[in-house]
Amino acid sequence: AKFSLDVTKSKKISNSLLGIFFEDINYAADGGLYAELVQNRDFEYTVSDTKGRDTNWNSTKAWSLKGETAQYIIDSINPIHPNNKHYAKLSIQQVGAALANEGFDGIAVKAGEKYDFSVFARTTKGKAGKLLVRLVGKNGEIYGETTTPSITANWKKYNATITAKAAVAEARLEIIPQMTGSLDLDLISLFPQKTFKGHKNGLRADLAQPLADLKPKFMRFPGGCVAHGDGIANIYNWKNTIGPLEARKPMRNLWGYHQTVGLGYFEYFQFCEDAGAEPLPVIAAGVPCQNSSTGGAGQQCGIPMAEMNNYVQDILDLVEYANGDVNTKWGKKRAEAGHPKPFNLKYIGIGNEDLITDIFEERFTMIFKAMKEKYPEITVIGTVGPNFEGTDYQEGWDVATKLGVPMVDEHYYQSPGWFIYNQDYYDKYDRAKPKVYLGEYAAHLPGRPNNIETALAEALYLTSVERNGDIVSMTSYAPLLAKDKHTQWSPNLIYFNNTEVRPTVGYEVQKLYGQNAGDQYIPSEISLSNNQENVKNRIALSVVRDSKSNDLIVKLVNLLPVAVNASVDLKNANLGNKEAVKTVLKGDPADRNAKPVVAACAVSELMNAELPAYSFTLYHIKNIGSNK
Ligand code: AHR
Repeated sequence: AKFSLDVTKSKKISNSLLGIFFEDINYAADGGLYAELVQNRDFEYTVSDTKGRDTNWNSTKAWSLKGETAQYIIDSINPIHPNNKHYAKLSIQQVGAALANEGFDGIAVKAGEKYDFSVFARTTKGKAGKLLVRLVGKNGEIYGETTTPSITANWKKYNATITAKAAVAEARLEIIPQMTGSLDLDLISLFPQKTFKGHKNGLRADLAQPLADLKPKFMRFPGGCVAHGDGIANIYNWKNTIGPLEARKPMRNLWGYHQTVGLGYFEYFQFCEDAGAEPLPVIAAGVPCQNSSTGGAGQQCGIPMAEMNNYVQDILDLVEYANGDVNTKWGKKRAEAGHPKPFNLKYIGIGNEDLITDIFEERFTMIFKAMKEKYPEITVIGTVGPNFEGTDYQEGWDVATKLGVPMVDEHYYQSPGWFIYNQDYYDKYDRAKPKVYLGEYAAHLPGRPNNIETALAEALYLTSVERNGDIVSMTSYAPLLAKDKHTQWSPNLIYFNNTEVRPTVGYEVQKLYGQNAGDQYIPSEISLSNNQENVKNRIALSVVRDSKSNDLIVKLVNLLPVAVNASVDLKNANLGNKEAVKTVLKGDPADRNAKPVVAACAVSELMNAELPAYSFTLYHIKNIGSNK
């Protein structure tokens, strides 16, 4: 294959092409990125979290009581907060009884590390007494323990720290009151002190780091379907997710479990700041998931128009929470949470895969106009509708074009073949229309693996996205995280359990794009020998330059089962004796474990580069000087 290009010619492309899509699906938040180790810490699980499918899923989920002369019930009289109604009421006749939590598939701790325990407690009968708190192994081994101060008669928060004596993957937490009588316990929490960037109520460092390593330019939150829920009552309400944990309002997760919202909007904005990513909150457009009905079959619904003014105000308040100064109502709340400086929110998504009906249009229009009027500096991203087979998204595009929405969110999960054969997808897009945020995409094969075949199809397609980076402004692969044994959707970018994090080959592709982004695209042409013409769309090149560093990046994908000799002619580049860093990701199509191999090489290698069978090859050339 011969590629010819002239590095003095370029077009401006988006500098925010690669971002991340975060949704609490597959236990991505609770039991996942959110570092809390206690499951059902506030006794708020309810059978309706699973829509009644799991009758054992209730306020006692993950809890058990040890000790023959002890009892516990779940009570709700005079709770710690009206948003947190349930708590455990223990009656102890003999010291030694323990309330135990099994964590999310056990509690994993590391030798020598410190863990912050906290609990809200009050005694209701008997004398004040301390709580002995232990990490206990399967055979009763004690991995660490601590004692709280004496519990007294009114609700109060107690803190203590446990240092783990040894590593264990599946411990349980035992709380052993050193008193007889009755006491109430709520919001029982155990957090590693070593969270990502050391924040309290923070994120699992080993999971947050690979996200930051993607060098995402933005991060979408809280979904996906979680953003708009499966009914009006299930719409994600950002105001329920901020402030003290006991005042947050937990909710049912439509993927069949529970959201504590401990990883709420503050923690999200904070992570974006830590990762250098722009926040991209996605808010329901006043309609739930695909306008799901609350009543009869096929009936569509939205927030009643009489309530829409309040709903619109909630969205405006989110911008104030992110950007308002400390004297504004919501800016003050952000400051109280520990972040007086604004988060500098620039984007907001309205809607997710909604059916484009009158119900949708009326509400979307109202929100869009209010946003435009109050915060014209914020880029609003609309939706073009659901990801149904065969849809052309026409109605969504029509609404967005009519209203002058600056950008729209497109989603597609397709076969690798689709990605291979649709590399011209954006070449034909009308440049006068709204820009595109490809908010969810992934190559899907039967069995839904994330392997070299899917990863290379995505890498190949992304060369065409870079080529169309004048119209495509952002992309995010979906979904992002999946916990072993709790995976509702495949494939994902990163799989994990309590002790392991396993980035996929698809993740490696995303990382190579994220870490090798440019803001100028250098158009190229490819010519193949006659007998290769029919496989042309399985070989692709994209060359970008980063105008800040003046680095030049060459990405080459070969999705053929044979190696191909490529010659890339960097006309006018005068790079003869320069060095490049070369990265190659390759493997058999079904390979799920390939890792990129990095080596230094001379730039002149590009004149005659061998692209291995099924490979993604990337050359990064540092500082080629401006306008070269
Ligand atoms: O990414 C998983 C789901 O796919 C998202 O929640 C939804 O938006 C889409 O249908």
